[in-house]
Amino acid sequence: MSGEIPNLARTALEELQLVRLRETLQRAWDHVPHHRRAFEAAGVRPDDLHTLADLARFPFTTKADLRANYPFGMFAVPREQVNRIHASSGTTGKPTVVGYTSDDIDVWSELMARSIRLAGGRPGDVVQVSYGYGLFTGGLGAHYGAERLGCTVVPVSGGMTSRQVQLITDFEPRIIMVTPSYFLAILDEMEAQGIDPTLTSLEIGIFGAEPWTDEMRHAIEERAGITAVDIYGLSEVMGPGVSQEAAASQDGLHIWEDHFLPEVIDPVTHDVLPDGSEGELVFTSLTKQAMPVIRYRTRDLTTLLPGTTVPAFRRMRKVTGRTDDMMIVRGVNVFPSQIEEQILTVPGLSPHYLCVLTRPGNLDELTVRVEASGTVEESPGVVLAERIKQHIGVSARVEVVERHALERSLGKAKRIDDQR
Ligand code: DLL
Repeated sequence: MSGEIPNLARTALEELQLVRLRETLQRAWDHVPHHRRAFEAAGVRPDDLHTLADLARFPFTTKADLRANYPFGMFAVPREQVNRIHASSGTTGKPTVVGYTSDDIDVWSELMARSIRLAGGRPGDVVQVSYGYGLFTGGLGAHYGAERLGCTVVPVSGGMTSRQVQLITDFEPRIIMVTPSYFLAILDEMEAQGIDPTLTSLEIGIFGAEPWTDEMRHAIEERAGITAVDIYGLSEVMGPGVSQEAAASQDGLHIWEDHFLPEVIDPVTHDVLPDGSEGELVFTSLTKQAMPVIRYRTRDLTTLLPGTTVPAFRRMRKVTGRTDDMMIVRGVNVFPSQIEEQILTVPGLSPHYLCVLTRPGNLDELTVRVEASGTVEESPGVVLAERIKQHIGVSARVEVVERHALERSLGKAKRIDDQR
């Protein structure tokens, strides 16, 4: 295996999914008490699955279920067979723990190799991995995938921004894998050192781990002279490499459907929605050994789209936000990504911003704190407030602050470590 992208006909793929899904449900029933109890409570058994659509009768799994079974209660193999542990923490409570057998690591490496290939990577490329290494899945996931594809990996991890720039200058990577927000910090550092970002060796950025918009993509591509593609994943399902956007088309992320079965549901009624409708993304793993996941509710909002010629795997639209990141401003649902979209249409503003939602009296007040991109003659804050009102339908107070006034993200792993 080396990141080859299989091109299965839809019927062959669905047959394969059905076989793998039956095995997964059986494994969950036999080896994970939580799943057996949940199946029993819903009145289903693994042999009730006759078609892929029957999956809708099975119960969902949530982050709360993983927390309730902390640390190793969701494992379907004895702990001795677990080759690797990762964990991710939210804002509260215990981290969510995930485990992998050596076969799971092998599949993950392969799917990451596929992802890097689809992003335009080739064997022999130098790949700088600036996702955090550690309990976060980003660094090690990217690392194993790039090695599998036959690349030369530079395992920098996140942070120490001036060293990031030095390594780009000295080792001349063709590809960087990093969160989009930390890449902006790297670009700032290049410019501070007098380096023109469009003149470095970088040709491709594989950005993910957080929502980012198409407007951000265009801004990054122009500023750095690279192709920017989206990679998606989550620890509970595997880590990075659940889906990947193709460099050639940049039109949504192909889901590796031979290993993960996606559904989109209405987050309120829990009904499965047809392809093409926006809702909450739900995943069932098809091959995971150590920790099979059954209908895991990601909280991420997206839409399933048909595949393209290459590959034929269905796509998901860029994730626009999470159900739990949504702000409700005087009754209007607002996602930070919508604010970002508007910021990037206003000259004189940079994509470094912070949304602050308060309720000083009885009414919600949204403040958008955003950095200026240089010296500003007009008042971009007024323009932004108008555009937010016009396009999103809420009133926001805009505070334009000086460049570098807002704290920079150092990549996701840093944030996770900070919370411990
Ligand atoms: O962020 C895995 C990853 C690492 C993906 C590196 C891509 C690159 P977690 O820390 O468990 O895992 O966070 C998962 O991050 O449910 C989404 O809300 C968000 N997320 C990840 N990728 C994207 C993306 C990793 N491309 C959570 N666009 C997910 C939008 C993303 N949101």
